[in-house]
Amino acid sequence: MHEKKTRNFQILTYGCQMNIYDSDRLGALLRGRGWEATENREEADFIFVNTCSIREKAARRVIGHLKRLREMKLKNPALLLGVGGCVAEQEGKKLLDEVPWLNLVVGPSRLDEIPEIMETLSCSDRPVVLSGQGSGTEGPAAPIIPMLDKTDALSPTPGLSAPPRGGEAEDSKEVSPKRAGGSTNPSQALLTEEKLEKSGSRRILSLPPARETRPAPMSSFLTIMSGCDNYCAYCVVPYLRGPERSRPMEEVIAEARSLVARGSLEITLLGQNVNSYGRPGHRDGRDFAALLTEVSAIEGLKRLRFTTSHPKDFPDGLVALFGSLPNLCEHLHLPLQAGSDAVLANMGRRYTKEKYLALVSSLRKVRPELALSTDVIVGFPGETEEQFLETVSLLETVRFDSIYSFKYSDRPMTKANLMPGKIPEEEKAERLSRLQAVQKAVTLEIHQNLVGLEKEVLVEGFGRKPGQLSGRTRDMKIINFDGPANLLGQLVKVTVTEAWPVSLLGKMAT
Ligand code: 5AD
Ligand code: SF4
Repeated sequence: MHEKKTRNFQILTYGCQMNIYDSDRLGALLRGRGWEATENREEADFIFVNTCSIREKAARRVIGHLKRLREMKLKNPALLLGVGGCVAEQEGKKLLDEVPWLNLVVGPSRLDEIPEIMETLSCSDRPVVLSGQGSGTEGPAAPIIPMLDKTDALSPTPGLSAPPRGGEAEDSKEVSPKRAGGSTNPSQALLTEEKLEKSGSRRILSLPPARETRPAPMSSFLTIMSGCDNYCAYCVVPYLRGPERSRPMEEVIAEARSLVARGSLEITLLGQNVNSYGRPGHRDGRDFAALLTEVSAIEGLKRLRFTTSHPKDFPDGLVALFGSLPNLCEHLHLPLQAGSDAVLANMGRRYTKEKYLALVSSLRKVRPELALSTDVIVGFPGETEEQFLETVSLLETVRFDSIYSFKYSDRPMTKANLMPGKIPEEEKAERLSRLQAVQKAVTLEIHQNLVGLEKEVLVEGFGRKPGQLSGRTRDMKIINFDGPANLLGQLVKVTVTEAWPVSLLGKMAT
């Protein structure tokens, strides 16, 4: 009898946690059709690169990687190469001009269609391009399937860049691949926004849980909503991820239960703006606080987190949950972006410095030990030195535990792309380094105050030194300590012994 040869895939993930979730989901769906994941790229029949285009640098890096993958294709002409995520959505079929050896280009909303396509796709076919929100095809004779082909509304920028997170010195935390701007015509940008507004029933996002029986990671991501309606002036996400859509609550709860039953101790609920969950037009109208309360009640779930929240959408009922849900961890990522009211207004953030500070103080009232992290952009168009200093001063006032800080980067389609008063690159870099120096001192002080305290740690991997384990505290600090490998995936008590700006050193409590 003939044994069918196993088909192997490898997924490389850039960008935000939502991309990590999407990649894991695609992996599960492919495995459901008989594919197997491989760590060895030489063995892969299909390599899929899940991309990020939030800032130009991130996007350029992705394109560079795609170009390098050509060597793999030369070695193995039957290898299928696919690209997903925001670069795929942004560039669509134009990506084929730059990287013609691609077989598949798929925007983030259409990832679930990949396994089906892979059943028949071969290197001799024309490349398949799927973008926009819908599903459905125009038949095999038209392998380019744009439901909302936004590529026409994009600038021809050859370089490209969810929330970004590690890496190079100038911008903090831009993610490297993980296994698991140009100018735009304003009328074109508006056209795209209008098209999104008119697109039909778009408020429900259904991602039926992939039928998984394998153990789940100790710490899992769970997407609850996708897209964004906020159109912050600098941000390309609403154009690439589409309008806000929430998953039905039963679907989310079922997936959370399955994760816990398969061993997850920690779940992070994901969305571009999780606080908008269920709004508007969601079937039963239950909001994010209701969802959080239900997920929190799942027996066996030790840690619950969520990201990302918009400060303008933080009702008192949600704040109160930080005081009442025991497994809701004492850490919150609350993007600030700027500390000047004028810059916040230009960014279209719809809160003021005072409102942000009031929210922080009400959160700290219900959970005094709450650790806060944030995102900050320096050098937004028109930002003056004084306005920049207001941001620095706000960091000193709030005393965030950590920040992700970025130089403003022009993105196609966004309002800021067309704004006057662009700040020169050197000035942005200089502001960024001043801001980061101030924050580094704050973070170090906060970390030094933890020395001597006992922390609960979820052991996630190994530290750099032999015999060292590494994990995270409930308040999201990275801590390394000596311990046996059989503690991987467990919760242990560790006493903090030393502090640095990015991590802590500890000793297992006896
Ligand atoms: N330039 C610089 N930073 C940006 N971000 C989003 N868009 C841009 C841009 N055009 C940052 C914001 C956001 C984080 C995910 O990425 O700080 O919160
Ligand atoms: Fe982008 Fe603003 Fe939406 Fe966040 S809230 S994804 S920054 S548009």
